[in-house]
Amino acid sequence: MVHTLVDQHGRVATDLRVSLTDRCNLRCTYCMPPEGLDWMPTDEQLTDDEVVRLIGVAVQRLGVREVRFTGGEPLVRRGLVDIVRQVRALDAEVEMSITTNALGLAKTAHALAEAGLNRANVSLDTVRSEVFHEITRRDRFADVVEGLAAAEAAGLGPVKVNAVLLRGVNDDEAPELLAWCLDRGYQLRFIEQMPLDAQHGWDRASMVTADDILASLSAAYRLEPASEPRGSAPAELFHVDGGPATVGIIASVTRPFCGDCDRVRLTADGQVRNCLFARSESDLRDAMRAGATDDELADRWRAAMWGKLPGHGIDDPTFLQPDRPMSAIGG
Ligand code: 5AD
Ligand code: SF4
Repeated sequence: MVHTLVDQHGRVATDLRVSLTDRCNLRCTYCMPPEGLDWMPTDEQLTDDEVVRLIGVAVQRLGVREVRFTGGEPLVRRGLVDIVRQVRALDAEVEMSITTNALGLAKTAHALAEAGLNRANVSLDTVRSEVFHEITRRDRFADVVEGLAAAEAAGLGPVKVNAVLLRGVNDDEAPELLAWCLDRGYQLRFIEQMPLDAQHGWDRASMVTADDILASLSAAYRLEPASEPRGSAPAELFHVDGGPATVGIIASVTRPFCGDCDRVRLTADGQVRNCLFARSESDLRDAMRAGATDDELADRWRAAMWGKLPGHGIDDPTFLQPDRPMSAIGG
C-alpha cells in the first residue's frame, strides 16, 4: 500500500527534489562566494546506492510521482547517469528531471535521456556572454548554449530555462532573454531571488520583483495570464503575444505559493527537508546506515513531513534564513 507524505495543513508532497552534491563549477554571485564553500565530506554524502534506495522508498511507499535532481550542480556527480538508470528500473512511470547549469550537458544529455531522464531545466540568467561571466564568475556562456541545444536534441524537452534577475546587473534583460528563448523553443521562467545565499547578501529592497519583471516584459510583449489554474506549479504562466508560447514567473517572495506546495527535499547527506526554508531537518542517512528497514525509513519520512510549517514567511520581519545555503539544499 502506498501511503502519502501529508502534512497537518492537508498538503500532500508528490514532488521530490534530490540534491546530489553541494558542489558546483560556477560561482553565481547570488549563491556562493568566489572561493566556493566548505564542501560536504564524501563520507557524509549518500552513496549512489543509498540515494537510489531512498528514492525507491519515496516512490514505492510514499506516493512520490516526480523526482528532480538538483545540486549544487548535479552533473558534477559522477554516478548521475547510473542513479537515473536505477531509479527508472524501479519505476517506469515516475517523472524524472534535472535542474542544471548545463555545463557538460552537451556530453551527457544523450546518456541521461537513454537512462530514463525525462526533462531538463537549465539555469541561465543572461544571454550576454560578458554578463554571464560577471554573474557566474566563469566565462562559460558558450557551453551553456551548447548544453541547452543538446538537451533539446536528446529529447529532454520541453526544455525550461530558469532566470534570476539582479538589480543593476541583468534587470534590463527580461525581454531579450524571452526573445532568445522563444527563438529556440525553450520555456523561460523568471524566479524572484530568495534569501538563500551563503553570504547572506539578499536584500528585499533591491530584489527584482514579479511586478518589475511583468512591467519590463510588457513594454515589448503582450502578456495575458494563461487560463489554466496553476495548481501546485510555482510558476504563474502568461501567454506571449496571444500564445501558444508562454513565459513563467515564480514569485516566491512577493506572491508565495506555500499553500499549494507539493514538494519535499532530500539533501546530499540524506536529510529530509520539508521546505527550502525549514530550520530543521530529519535524518535518514544515519538511520539507514544503522540498519533501518524501508518501512522504518518511510515512517521517519512521513513524520518529517507532518510538521511542515504553513509558509516560509520571507516577507515577515522575524524571518530567519536557513543555516544551509541553496547549493546545499537543492533548488
Ligand atoms: N533565489 C532564487 N533562485 C536561486 N537559484 C539559486 N539561488 C537562488 C536564490 N537565492 C536558482 C538558480 C537555479 C535554481 C536551482 O535556483 O539560478 O536556476
Ligand atoms: Fe552553481 Fe547554481 Fe549556485 Fe550558480 S546558482 S553557483 S550554477 S549552484
